[in-house]
Amino acid sequence: MTDINPKIQHLQELRIQSALGGGPERIARQHKNNRLTARERIELLLDRGSFREIDSFITHRTTDFGLDQRKYMSDSVVTGWGTIDGRLVYVFSQDFTVMGGSLGEVHAEKIVKIMDMAMKNGAPIIGLNDSGGARIQEGVVSLAGYSDIFLRNTLASGVIPQISVIMGPCAGGAVYSPALTDFIFMVQDSSYMFVTGPEVVKTVTHEDVSFEQLGGASIHSETSGVCHVVSQTDADALYMVRKLLSYLPQNNMEDPLFAKTEDSPLRRDAALNDIVPADPGKPYDIKDVIRLVVDNGDFYEIHENYAANIVVGFARLGGHSIGIIANQPMVLAGVLDINASEKAARLIRFCDSFNIPILTFEDVPGFLPGTIQEHGGIIRSGAKLLYAYCEATVPKLTVITRKAYGGAYCVMSSKHIRGDVNLAWPTAEIAVMGPDGAVNIIFRKELEEAEDPVAKKAELVADYREKFANPYVAASRGYIDDVIEPRDTRPRLINALEMLANKRDMNPAKKHGNIPL
Ligand code: HXC
Repeated sequence: MTDINPKIQHLQELRIQSALGGGPERIARQHKNNRLTARERIELLLDRGSFREIDSFITHRTTDFGLDQRKYMSDSVVTGWGTIDGRLVYVFSQDFTVMGGSLGEVHAEKIVKIMDMAMKNGAPIIGLNDSGGARIQEGVVSLAGYSDIFLRNTLASGVIPQISVIMGPCAGGAVYSPALTDFIFMVQDSSYMFVTGPEVVKTVTHEDVSFEQLGGASIHSETSGVCHVVSQTDADALYMVRKLLSYLPQNNMEDPLFAKTEDSPLRRDAALNDIVPADPGKPYDIKDVIRLVVDNGDFYEIHENYAANIVVGFARLGGHSIGIIANQPMVLAGVLDINASEKAARLIRFCDSFNIPILTFEDVPGFLPGTIQEHGGIIRSGAKLLYAYCEATVPKLTVITRKAYGGAYCVMSSKHIRGDVNLAWPTAEIAVMGPDGAVNIIFRKELEEAEDPVAKKAELVADYREKFANPYVAASRGYIDDVIEPRDTRPRLINALEMLANKRDMNPAKKHGNIPL
C-alpha cells in the first residue's frame, strides 16, 4: 500500500473540517429543533451528487470581540451550484451552526459571488435562509453586505428566477432579501420572519406576541401574504421548490421546458358541462374546473391560504407551462378585493417576465364594496391588477365561466387589454352589473310605482337576464372570440396556446413603467 501524499491528506482533512460547520454539538441541536443542516438541505434540494461547493476555505477577517479565536472554514453560509432535474441552479444555504448563520462580511461576499454567477450564466438562484441576522460583532460591515445582496436581488428580478426558503429565523432588515425575490417558502413551526422581534414590539407598542404569532409560517401564508408556499418539514419545502422550478425557464431569454404528457390534448371532460350551477347565486369550486382542464389534473397552487377568493398557480396544458389566475366563486363569491388583486398581479408579472402564458378563468361579480376596501386603497390595488394584465405581452387566454361584471370584466384579461383568445361558456353573464343591482337602478321609478313591486322586480330581472346576462351580446361585438361548450375547454385552450406559440408583442420603449404601488 502506498502512503497517501501528505498534501492530499491535508486537503482531505480540511474538507472534513469545513463540512462540520459549527461542530457536532451544534449540528445535534439543529436536528433536535427539527431542522436539517445547511449541507443536508442542499443534498435534498439538488440532484444527487451534483453539488459543487465553492469558497469552503474562506474564513472571516474580524478580530473584535475575540472573533479571531473563533474561525470556521466556509464561515456561516454554504454556496455553490448543482442541478435540479438536470438543470443548473445556484444555491446558498445559511449555516445556523456557525455563529447562528449570522451574516458578516465574507458571508455576504459568498452570496454576492454566487448571485453574480447566476446572473451571468442565466440560471435560477435559491437561497436557504436560517440566520440570526447581521453579525453583531461585525457592525456596519454586515449592513453593507446586506445592501450588496439587496442590490443584486433587485437587478436579478425579472432576469433569473429567485427563490427563498425560510427554514429558521429571518429577522430585521434581513427579511428584505427574500422579500425582493419571486417566491418565499416557509416551514411550519420552525421558521419565522419579522422586521422587529417580539421584544422590540413589546417596548414600542406594549403588545405581547410570540415569534410564531408575529411572523410564523401561518401568519405569513394566511394573513400577510409574504409567504407563497408553506410546508410541514424542511424536506417537503425543498421538494416543493424542485417542483416549482419544473414550470419555469432558466432565465428571461428562454421559454419554459416542454413536458411531454400522456394526457391527450383532445380530451373533453363531460363533467365540465354541468359544473356551473343553474342558480347563478350558487357557488362551485373553480379548482375543480382547473383540475379537469390541465394536464393530469396537476395544479401547483401559490398562495393557497391567502386571499382565497382568487386562485393562482402553475400547471401545464398539452405539455406547455402556464400560469393560472382564477376567480373562486366558493370564497366571497370570487369578488376582487385588495389582497386578491395584489396576489394575482404579482403572479401575472412573474409569468410575463419569464415567458409563461397566462390563462384566466373568470367568474367575478365585481370589486368588493365598503369603507374597509375603499379606505384600504382598493383603487390603487385594483389598478395594480389592471396594470399587470395590460402590460403583459405573453400569450393571454381567458375563459369566462359565469359572471364578468363591471370594471372586473375589463380587468380580468379582457379582449380590450390585449387578451389573445377570449372564450366564454354559455353560462357566462357579461354586463355592467348583475341583474338585481341593474334593475334597482334603472327601474327605480317603475318599482316605486308598481302595485306589486316584488312581482314587477322579478319580471324586470328576468327580462334583464335574458337580454344582458349572457355571452352573446359581447360575442356579437367580437369582445369574446367564441362561445364554447365547457367540455371543449381543454382542446380549445391547447389549440390556442399552440397557435400563439410565436406570439410577439411589445410595449413602447421606456426605462420602466410606474405601476401604482
Ligand atoms: C452574531 C449570533 C447572532 C448574530 C445568533 N448568534 N445571532 N452571533 N450575530 N446576529 C449566535 C449566538 O451567539 C450563538 O452562538 C448562536 O448564534 C446560536 O444562537 P442562540 O441564541 O443560542 O440560538 P437560539 O436560542 O436558537 O436563538 C436564535 C435567535 C437569537 C432568536 C436568532 O440568536 C437571536 O435573537 N439573535 C439575535 C438576532 C438579532 O437581533 N439579529 C440582528 C437583527 S437586525 P454560539 O457560539 O453559542 O453557537 C439585522 C439587521 C439587518 O439583522 C439589517 C439589514 C439591512
